[in-house]
Amino acid sequence: MKFFIDTANINEIKEAAALGILDGVTTNPSLVSKEGKDFRKLLDEILALVDGPVSAEVISTDYDGILKEAREYAAIHRNIVVKVPLIKEGLKAVRTLTAEGIRTNVTLCFSPSQALLAAKAGATYISPFVGRLDDVSTNGMELISQIVQIYRNYDYKTQVLVASIRHPLHVVEAALIGADVCTMPFNVIDKLFNHPLTDIGLEKFLSDWKKTQNKNNLRK
Ligand code: E4P
Repeated sequence: MKFFIDTANINEIKEAAALGILDGVTTNPSLVSKEGKDFRKLLDEILALVDGPVSAEVISTDYDGILKEAREYAAIHRNIVVKVPLIKEGLKAVRTLTAEGIRTNVTLCFSPSQALLAAKAGATYISPFVGRLDDVSTNGMELISQIVQIYRNYDYKTQVLVASIRHPLHVVEAALIGADVCTMPFNVIDKLFNHPLTDIGLEKFLSDWKKTQNKNNLRK
């Protein structure tokens, strides 16, 4: 499974990249606006830090506008993936962009029928939002199972990019289902490392070692 970080914050991206487990980055207009920086400059910084897919989202909602923005983003760097909303005009644009060899990430997916349409349009990634579904008392992970099953049934090449992840269990469940990618905020990446028994065990190993170090010390 690939791990993407869902942020436009440079420090978080740096920290996640340093961990050696980061495969890519997703951004969205809300995340970018939080940073208060010029998006083009921000993109250049991100692209210099991570050698993997970096999603940049269009803000147009009409076919021509989406194509214009998408081509501009794609021209910036080979790692750019253009994020397009799951609306009719968006999927029409995805079909055209796919024919041009521009990779797309279809965002704001909340149903299996939407995911099926995105695959038919030739999307590179589909982004179902699990956390936002959970927020409205609908099982987000159930949607992931359905999409993975549908894509397997017809051998669609569109990758399932689980988005709106809120906690480590979302990641584990997505991995068990066989989703291709999880994009998550830094705090979730951080939590994946934690287990209280690891901390307790390590503390015990180190304190036991201290007791015997006069006899066994290999390090001075
Ligand atoms: C997807 O690419 C989105 O950026 C993101 O995962 C949305 O997550 P949220 O529901 O936490 O805003």
